[in-house]
Amino acid sequence: MQTSLRELPNDLDQNRLPSHVAVIMDGNGRWAKRRGLPRIMGHRQGVDALKNLLRCCNDWGIQALTAYAFSTENWKRPAEEVDFLMTLFERVLERELQEMMAENVRIQFVGNLIALPRSLQDQIDKSMTTTQSNTGIQFTVATNYGGRQEILQAVRAIAIQVQQGKLQPDEINEELFSRHLYTANLSDPDLLIRTSGEMRLSNFLLWQMAYGELYITDTLWPDFDRKEFHQALCAYQKRDRRFGKI
Ligand code: IPE
Ligand code: IPE
Ligand code: MG
Repeated sequence: MQTSLRELPNDLDQNRLPSHVAVIMDGNGRWAKRRGLPRIMGHRQGVDALKNLLRCCNDWGIQALTAYAFSTENWKRPAEEVDFLMTLFERVLERELQEMMAENVRIQFVGNLIALPRSLQDQIDKSMTTTQSNTGIQFTVATNYGGRQEILQAVRAIAIQVQQGKLQPDEINEELFSRHLYTANLSDPDLLIRTSGEMRLSNFLLWQMAYGELYITDTLWPDFDRKEFHQALCAYQKRDRRFGKI
């Protein structure tokens, strides 16, 4: 029997869903190029794909979604594209805040946020404060995020505590280290989806992905829809997560 779009498809096991899904939203530029459009049109379309995925995760009972929106390396792109993206993030945040409240979404941003344009930072602060008491999905947007940079800022913060005598070097363990990452409030991702076929992490969640399952699809990000996500979850449920055991 056909279930409604909002319900979990009946070939998926409710009890074996990933708690935390992360996504590298790649391929916006190629999507646009194939249509003879400027790259920015791909980014615009990519926003809709992210909105749909967020709603889908919420509908299907996934607790956390983390999306890679802008890497520390993406500043190397032409200034017009970077400027367009910064303005797009700000506009989308402003436009979608009411909708996120209505859907009980808790949004947070991770990355080196102080390097972002001031007006975007203000919008980020506003969206995080407004949604902080919501109890639905935890939606994390990685903006000016780099895994190596995240690890280094954690190392620095820990080194200062050691220097001040507040912490002994042998007290530094995985649990303590994780608490100094941007993702301190999140479990590690169970599933990382990358669109557009690239087989790399591109500096995303380097520490957190130690045992996360990878799912790579050739589908370009703007075309990633509920059907594609359903396929990713089916593949995930077939995996044997051994964590080093036999
Ligand atoms: C991902 O799409 C979006 C961002 C990195 C901001 P791309 O812009 O990387 O698209 P391709 O990889 O050039 O097709
Ligand atoms: C990764 O995509 C970053 C985001 C999706 C935000 P890129 O397109 O920047 O990655 P590379 O350059 O192909 O590794
Ligand atoms: Mg790309």
